Amino acid sequence: MNLIKKMLVAPATVLALWAVTAQATTDEAIAERLKPVGEVCIQGQECKGVGAVAVAAGAARTADDVIAKYCGACHTPGILGAPKIGDAAAWKARADAKGGIDGILATAISGINAMPPKGTCADCSDDELRAAIQKMSGL
Ligand code: HEC
Repeated sequence: MNLIKKMLVAPATVLALWAVTAQATTDEAIAERLKPVGEVCIQGQECKGVGAVAVAAGAARTADDVIAKYCGACHTPGILGAPKIGDAAAWKARADAKGGIDGILATAISGINAMPPKGTCADCSDDELRAAIQKMSGL
């Protein structure tokens, strides 16, 4: 490497390091600003305010929540031909026939025969439905 190139590379390295440092400082500053919210919850007090914000922002329900409230009614007993929770072979056969979990997710969203659209969870996001399907099927 000739001298000119070295002279150009050195400042570039310094600049890159500076940019990394500046980012770290910003992250720290953000963490600091967020801290009071975290502290309110960590101290074991009720976090009603925080919870309300999370729900308003559309916090995802867990797969267990969705299954317990919506899918389990049919998929636990396996009524009307619904594949049973934990019957991995039945779910796999369906997934295989439709090109994987995305395929049966699409059917779950649209509904099919006795399977109502979105399995009656009208406000479930695609991700929530996918998580519920994964949990029920083991896929
Ligand atoms: C009212 C009963 C009922 C409820 C509630 C229900 N399902 Fe179903 N589900 C069925 C039945 C019946 C089938 C089989 C439909 C068929 O193939 O004829 C099925 C099939 C499915 C399939 C397979 C679709 C395919 O392409 O083979 C998926 C995925 C599924 N349900 C997901 C869900 C999810 C997720 C929930 C909850 C959010 C849910 N279901 C709630 C009755 C229900």
